Amino acid sequence: VNFGILGSGIVGRTLGGKLAELGHQVMIGTRDVSETLARTQPEGYGGPPFGVWQQQHPRVKLGTFADAAAHGEIVVNATAGMGSLEALEMAGRAHLAGKILMDIANPLDSSRGMPPTLSVANADSLGEQIQRAFPETRVVKTLNTVTASLMINPSLLSGEHSVFVSGDDAEAKAMVTQILKDWFGWPSVIDLGDITSARGTEMVMALWLRLFRALQTPLFNYRIVRRAE
Ligand SMILES: NC(=O)c1ccc[n+]([C@@H]2O[C@H](COP(=O)([O-])OP(=O)(O)OC[C@H]3O[C@@H](n4cnc5c(N)ncnc54)[C@H](OP(=O)(O)O)[C@@H]3O)[C@@H](O)[C@H]2O)c1
Repeated sequence: VNFGILGSGIVGRTLGGKLAELGHQVMIGTRDVSETLARTQPEGYGGPPFGVWQQQHPRVKLGTFADAAAHGEIVVNATAGMGSLEALEMAGRAHLAGKILMDIANPLDSSRGMPPTLSVANADSLGEQIQRAFPETRVVKTLNTVTASLMINPSLLSGEHSVFVSGDDAEAKAMVTQILKDWFGWPSVIDLGDITSARGTEMVMALWLRLFRALQTPLFNYRIVRRAE
């Protein structure tokens, strides 16, 4: 499958690297290719500058957001949430029409300090904003509740723990669920319903950020415990 991954940060790299390793054709998208390749500073989470990372992952291509979206049969939104709508506009409506968009972004606003707040919440969500702005795109909100390394390697934690899918298109959600289970190894994928349920997984960030601070590690997840029927 051809994957277009919008986002050159740790999430885009983690998913892009894994999908390429599985034999898929991956292009990562960024705002300005030459600027991104010219970077010499480590990325936000201490990873190498993009050019160094790409030398270690030569099968992953780099293009503009528009190049990556055009390349992808499935597109991933791994851009900073406050810039996601802008990034998707740059990717181009026509390049996204009819395609599944796995939306992993959280609408985190750090402008008032740490921990960040959500720029949209309660009666709306970034997932819904994206679905409204791109009605022809099949948005599936997923993976935004776990740290990047867990997304593709849930067995870093023992026992059953869950990720979620939200979206209006049942077929798109089924495809994404298959990717999560069969390719990334998720034992439990819970379908929360339509795209409005992205409010729940985005607002969970308020808890996630405090757990991160309390536990001093991002390597944790939620286990949903149910009464046996
Ligand atoms: N880090 C995690 O473990 C984690 C876990 C769950 C969810 N998430 C979510 O996943 C997304 C990606 O996270 P990340 O940590 O990999 O990287 P990030 O630093 O949040 O985002 C980097 C990407 O966003 C693009 N970007 C930033 N501002 C932009 C703007 N104003 N307009 C257009 N594009 C813009 C950057 O473009 P350039 O390539 O041009 O620099 C880059 O590709 C975020 O929404 C984050 O909340 C992250």
